Amino acid sequence: MSNCRRLVISFLPLFVALLPCGMSGTQNQPLRASAEQRGFFIGAAVAVSPFRNEPIYRETLGREFNIIVAENAFKWDSVRPSRTTFNFRDTDALVDFAQASNMKIRGHTLVWHNQIPGWLTNGNFSRDEVIAILREHILTFVGRYKGRVWAWDVVNEAVDDSTGGLRTGSFWYQKIGPDYLRLAFEFAREADPGAKLYYNDYSSEGLNTKSNGVFNLVSSLKSQGIPIDGVGWQMHQVNGFRMQPANRTNAKRLAELGLEISITEMDVRINLPTTPEKLAEQAQAYRDAINFCLTEPNCKALLMWGFTDKYSWIPAFFSGFGDALIYDMSYQPKPAYFALKEVLEQGRQQRSPANYDESKVGAYTLPDPLILNDGKPVRTATDWTKRRRPEILELFEAKVYGRSPQPPKDISYEVFDLDEHVLDGKAIRKQVTIHLSPKKDGPKEDLLMYLPTGSRKPVPMILSLNFSGNQAATADPRIKLATVWNPRTHEKQQASEQSRGRAQDPIEKILARGYAFGTICYQDIEPDFKGGYVHGIRPPLFKPGQTEPAPDDWGAIGVWSYGLGRALDYLEKDKDIDSKRVAIMGHSRLGKTVLWAGAMDRRFAMVLSSCSGEGGASLARRNYGETIRNLADAFPYWFCANFAKYADHADQLPVDMHELIALIAPRPVYVTGGETDRWADPKGEFLACVAAGPVYRLLGAQDLGTDQMPALDQPIMQTIAYHIHTGGHAVTAFDWDQFLTFADKHLRAH
Ligand code: XIL
Repeated sequence: MSNCRRLVISFLPLFVALLPCGMSGTQNQPLRASAEQRGFFIGAAVAVSPFRNEPIYRETLGREFNIIVAENAFKWDSVRPSRTTFNFRDTDALVDFAQASNMKIRGHTLVWHNQIPGWLTNGNFSRDEVIAILREHILTFVGRYKGRVWAWDVVNEAVDDSTGGLRTGSFWYQKIGPDYLRLAFEFAREADPGAKLYYNDYSSEGLNTKSNGVFNLVSSLKSQGIPIDGVGWQMHQVNGFRMQPANRTNAKRLAELGLEISITEMDVRINLPTTPEKLAEQAQAYRDAINFCLTEPNCKALLMWGFTDKYSWIPAFFSGFGDALIYDMSYQPKPAYFALKEVLEQGRQQRSPANYDESKVGAYTLPDPLILNDGKPVRTATDWTKRRRPEILELFEAKVYGRSPQPPKDISYEVFDLDEHVLDGKAIRKQVTIHLSPKKDGPKEDLLMYLPTGSRKPVPMILSLNFSGNQAATADPRIKLATVWNPRTHEKQQASEQSRGRAQDPIEKILARGYAFGTICYQDIEPDFKGGYVHGIRPPLFKPGQTEPAPDDWGAIGVWSYGLGRALDYLEKDKDIDSKRVAIMGHSRLGKTVLWAGAMDRRFAMVLSSCSGEGGASLARRNYGETIRNLADAFPYWFCANFAKYADHADQLPVDMHELIALIAPRPVYVTGGETDRWADPKGEFLACVAAGPVYRLLGAQDLGTDQMPALDQPIMQTIAYHIHTGGHAVTAFDWDQFLTFADKHLRAH
């Protein structure tokens, strides 16, 4: 076997094990399953009486939806029989049901001019007394469900329909004045800092006096630093309704304020009698709404005001109208139900086959890394470093990989193995446990190091992340066997003796060139499966009351990158290593990881990224091979939850991957692709390197010097380097040779 063949590392088995099962079987799956595949929340308002008395009602709810809201049970007249008493019977039942059914629940509502009890409105209370009652209500109620209610409609319907100003006739306005809004949001934040706080209203979805009024109100709350996270669009519509461009404009201006939206009470009432045509039209309205929500990145959920026409508020409130929901009176799904399902599943249908035809890649325009968010050009290196770089980094944090926390300072290390005479005396072996938190019994990673003997100065290092344990790097029986996760059973197990040396990293070659070699198993940092984060370092960092990662919290790639950063913290203290000359190397998902680690942490001197593909160096806007949709379906947890919003809309992603490479500038970066690894789109990786060029040039470094894709095995090696190797999705001996030449060129020079 040739040396080259022997060194080819294939991760195919791992991929096969982790790929989701086939496409079949979505036909009969409930709405919530289709929604969950999109990372979306679809829900309904619950009426307590059928919830308690009609098994099919409760059963349908639990099966079809992953978020609920109470139609009336959370309102004052239900929760507050008197000033001194609370009635939490129904609210407890609903919160418990949501939790047991693995659903989210919205709390509706804390301040509204309707459905408030007589003891309050007729009580002749002073302003201060009403504020005290409101505070007690919110602290007790919201506090009771701290961490369990996902979002609260803190204030409902405060804006006047005709003026767009505040509704002045309401009890709350009359008693407290306009300050009641601020107070309610502040009390709610105090009671549960982890809950999302919403302003909710009707007829404010498009662009009109009312929605402008809502926009002005929430802008002003925001600008005063009052805690508000989102705006609810009730969406009570009359059949014939279609979403309009104005809805998008409205959503975007709210997004620009940093607010999310949810559709909170949708129904589409039909002017009775109902006909098949009217039902088809109604389906179209629901189709529009879900499509809107799935493509508007700040839209988080769609809830309907009920789900069966049997229990809808419409006939009682709008005479002559009815049949506004997605199930009929006998719990049969209507065309609207199938419309919702179809749109939710569209992403999956589009998933196959992947495009491998250059002529079908489609036109796209990349965001310009040298134009600031305000449209002004970046002219100098200082403009880049001080202004543009932070903007791009922020977008990658908010929309792609999520935000990584600052590491704690008091982390400790244990060198548990030191052998100064290994590899025939050519090397020193060290193994170090690096704690990832201040707790000794908390999460930790093991760093395996080989150092060339005989160097009097600290040496540069090539630090890799590995898939299956440090023991796979080389067949040295003294290497500690890693603890790895079974991808099927999700159980921890010790890596096998047989796995020693399987990866065959070219350690001796690396050492002979004067570099130290270091490696860490990514599974030490966080296991690589959906939901695996619960075993890693994320949950201890949750905010009070937080139960799952926020949409912009770090995903697994961020967590694995963090492990590299902590290794560098250690290396800064290890006198044998020149920590200013550490290159990081990773393949495939770990190729993505090293790019992101290099982008975030400017202490890394060089990045070597092998076959990183979609979500790594490949341009997301190029429709070739794997797409964001594929990632969102199979590996959503690698990224922050917001990334899935772009699954079918790469063009709306505010960044593209050339900007990830640009974040590494002016430090050297090497990107590789494989001839047959079309899934990773080697050309898309090349084009990202090309498009990062202007940033490198601005910073006085070299771009690739060409926009022509090189032939196979023909490296282009400037400050940015690229090649496409013979072979597929692998790190080859040829790759390593080029990496070392590249390292000699850039890391040796200092
Ligand atoms: C409605 C309920 O559906 C009815 O059962 C109740 O009698 C009145 O309130 N906007 C809102 C909801 O925010 O709370 C309203 O719910 C419908 C309009």
